[in-house]
Formats: sequence, structure tokens, C-alpha cells
Amino acid sequence: MKQNDSNAIKFMYGENIPVELHKVRMVQKLNLKPIDERAQAIEEGGYNTFLLNTKDIFLDMLTDSGTNAMSDNQISSMLRADDAYAGSQSFYRMEEALREVFGKHYVLPVHQGRAAENIISQAFIKKGDVIPMNYHFTTTKEHMEINGGKILEIYADHALEIKSSHPFKGNIDIDKLNKVIEEYGAKNVAFVRMEASTNLIGGQPFSIQNMRDVKAVADKHGIMFVLDASLIGENAYFIKQREEEFKDTPIKDILLLMCSFADIVYFSSRKVSSTRGGGICTNSKELMLKMRDLVVLYEGFMTYGGMSVREIEAMAVGLIETTDETVISQSPSFINYAVTQLDNVGIPVITPPGALGCHIDAMGFLPHVPQSEYPAGALASALYIVSGCRGMERGTISSVRDENGNDILADVELLRLAFPRRVFTLSQTMFLIDRVKWLYDNRELIGGLKFIEEPKVLRFFMGRLAPTSNWPEKLIAKFKADFGDSL
Ligand code: F0G
Repeated sequence: MKQNDSNAIKFMYGENIPVELHKVRMVQKLNLKPIDERAQAIEEGGYNTFLLNTKDIFLDMLTDSGTNAMSDNQISSMLRADDAYAGSQSFYRMEEALREVFGKHYVLPVHQGRAAENIISQAFIKKGDVIPMNYHFTTTKEHMEINGGKILEIYADHALEIKSSHPFKGNIDIDKLNKVIEEYGAKNVAFVRMEASTNLIGGQPFSIQNMRDVKAVADKHGIMFVLDASLIGENAYFIKQREEEFKDTPIKDILLLMCSFADIVYFSSRKVSSTRGGGICTNSKELMLKMRDLVVLYEGFMTYGGMSVREIEAMAVGLIETTDETVISQSPSFINYAVTQLDNVGIPVITPPGALGCHIDAMGFLPHVPQSEYPAGALASALYIVSGCRGMERGTISSVRDENGNDILADVELLRLAFPRRVFTLSQTMFLIDRVKWLYDNRELIGGLKFIEEPKVLRFFMGRLAPTSNWPEKLIAKFKADFGDSL
């Protein structure tokens, strides 16, 4: 059976290109401002792409969070939203969708993914506990540590290799999991966490076989299994593509199987279903009751959890659409295209291509910029200056300092160029690739960054930096010499 997926379309006379399996019916005008205005915008934004204003941005590749395109069915569902503080029909429709897609009976709504992390951490982590996982996410780590937990990343050694052909770099290393349990004792393991399409290591998936193995160990020791499903659709898609056993299994069944291993499934709906919001799902009444009071305390009543009823309606439809391969294949297909094009000319990008975005290895791109001068942040600023495209730093700026005030250097320094679902066209993607190639040819012009204002918590969001030399001026001069009056 042919898959409903742009990767399944073959071309006779050229290389495979991702085909948009949708048509555009509403558009938003974009600005590509002259380079001097872009340079001014990034300076005013403290060389932090989070602090840019979208009026100054051409392609916003910061994240897929809350920026995936909604479908016609999602938009129209918003009109039937049932406004009610308690007992809204919109909530029951979302609950039904979650039962169908994740196979979990109890649904606790929350305003976004980190709210779920707050509740799960408060309910299940006690001081001194450890939480083994494939890899942390920024907000996950903060919530767990605030509640006295310590995260232990037990990925396989190849997970952090930039260039790799390993299909499942998001897998947990089972030997390491056994060792953690032996060392800390099962009663001090709050739970084991698996993050679908492991965000911070380049959107890399885990396999079903790995879930089975993790589940077997967790069950043997009576340890709870928590699944972060924020990027579960893409992980399921990669399972179908890369795990032989599931090559003919519908995405819907893969999703159900993935969730069946977990006692608790939580998610950011900003990612998984192209809307705002989030949720926590379980089949255990006992677990649900341990979290329910925290939902009413922090989020809102049980039938809205901090979301508007319109968002809840669109979320229900978006969840069902996540089971559609036409929808779920789009972002990975474009990422695959961008990664392949850059890799072909020797630009260091994470391979195999993963979910969420194209991840450029900033240490490989800028070997002359020391990690203490934040190469991924510098590369994000440089790319914005030369293209108007906004990516996100996922490196040491996104890390924290130790008790002595020294930076804890990130395992990998990545510039993430997100491909929100069904947002960018192929020609926009080609524009991006062209500018990244030019930047690579001129990479020696890019220098480092230093903090000039540094918040204590999640500093990457609001922190302000400055270049360590006048490198932006030199980069701009070269751009003008090569591109003339072009934007
Ligand atoms: N878990 C994962 C795997 C995530 O990627 C995110 C958010 C969260 C939890 C938190 O969810 O933002 O709704 O509170 N990731 C976004 C990103 C912010 O850009 O990668 P949230």
C-alpha cells in the first residue's frame, strides 16, 4: 500500500523534493528587511533571537511551538466551542480525542507542556529522587530540580554524535538504566521519562523496541514510566520509516502502542496538535487523583485547565490529524530536504535528519569560536543578519551555571532551524539553504558573544548579549560586497 506521504512521491528527472500535500488558503505577508535594519534589530534584541520582533523577521524558524499551521477543520471547529466554566462540551470532545489517539481514559487539561511538568514533578518527585531519561528538555529539568529531583541522562554513546546513521539516537541505554536502579535503589527513582523525538539532541526518535525494553525494566522494579508526547507524531512517523517491524503499521496504531507502555503521557499541545495548551493522560485513577488537585490549583477547572474553549476544540481536531500521515510527514520531509542539501556540501548538520528542525552543529561550523563564547548563539545572530531567518540557540546559552558561577557547557552546540508543520514552502526553504551556504563560506568572519544581562532562571529566554568584537560589521560589509543591493 502506498503511504500518504510526500516521501513516497518519486521524481523521474531530478532529486526528490518534498511536495506540499496541502494547499494554501490563507496567507500572512512577510517582510524581508534590508540588512542594516536586520543588524539594528538583532543589536536591540541583545543578540538573542527570542528578543526579536516578528515585524523584523522573514522566516520565523525559532520553534514549532504554537506556530504549526492549523487546518481548515481546526479553524472551523473553533466556531462550535461551548463557552462554560465547568462541563464544557468542548472539553468532552477533546477527552474523547485523547482516548482515541493516546488510549488513555483520564485527561487532565493544562495550559501548556511545562504546566504538565510542574504538576507531575510536584506530585511524584521527592527530595533526593532521581529521574532517568533519554535526554532533558529545558523546562522539564527546571521543574524536576525545583522539586528536589536530579535528572540522569542515560542515552547511548552515539546519541550525541553529529554525523550518524543510527536511526534511533533517542533510545535509552538499558544497561545504564539498570545501573541507575542498582546505584540509587528503585524507591529513589521517581519515574523513568522518555521524550519522543528527543528535542535537544536534534529531534531524534526512539524505537518501539527500546520502549519495550525500558518498560520491562521499569515493571520489574515497580517504577513508573512517563512519556513526554509533545513530538510523538513525528517519532511515530520515524518508527514507521526506520523500524522494520512497523513499516506497514498505520501511524494511529503506532501512537497507541507507544502510549500503551507509559503510565502517564503528557504533552505540549503547542507542538503535537498545532494549537495552544497541553494535557496529562493516564489510565490509572490513583495516579490521576494524585495530580487532579494541582490542576485546579494552578491551571483552572478540570474542564478547561487554563485553555480557552476554542483552543480545546482545535486541539481535539489537531490530535486526530496527528494520526494522518499526510499531516505528520510534512515537517520531517522538509527537514530531510534541508539537512540533505546542507550535508551534501559538507556543512555540519545533525544526521540522520530528525523532527522539529534542521540542526546545525555550531562547533563544527565555527571551530574558531570557543564554547565559552556561545558559538550557537553567535551563529543564530549571524544567520539572522544575513537572511532575516530566525533560528534558536540550543547550546550553552540554553544551559545553566554551576554553584561556582561557571557555565556548564552544553553537550552539543546547535542552531535549530525549526520547520513548523505546513508553514514554509520549498522556495523559502531553498532561500534559507542558500544563505546558510553563503554563511558557511564566510564563517571565519563570525565571532563570539558574551552576556551583558543574565537572568537566573532559563536565561536563554530574556538574556541579553553583545558581540566579543566588531565581527557583525565585517560580516555585513562582506554581505554587501557579495549581494549588492539585494535583500
Ligand atoms: N517537552 C518538550 C519535548 C518540548 O519540546 C517542550 C517545548 C515542552 C515539553 C514544554 O512545552 O512550551 O508548551 O510549555 N518546546 C518548545 C520548543 C518550547 O521550542 O522546543 P510548552
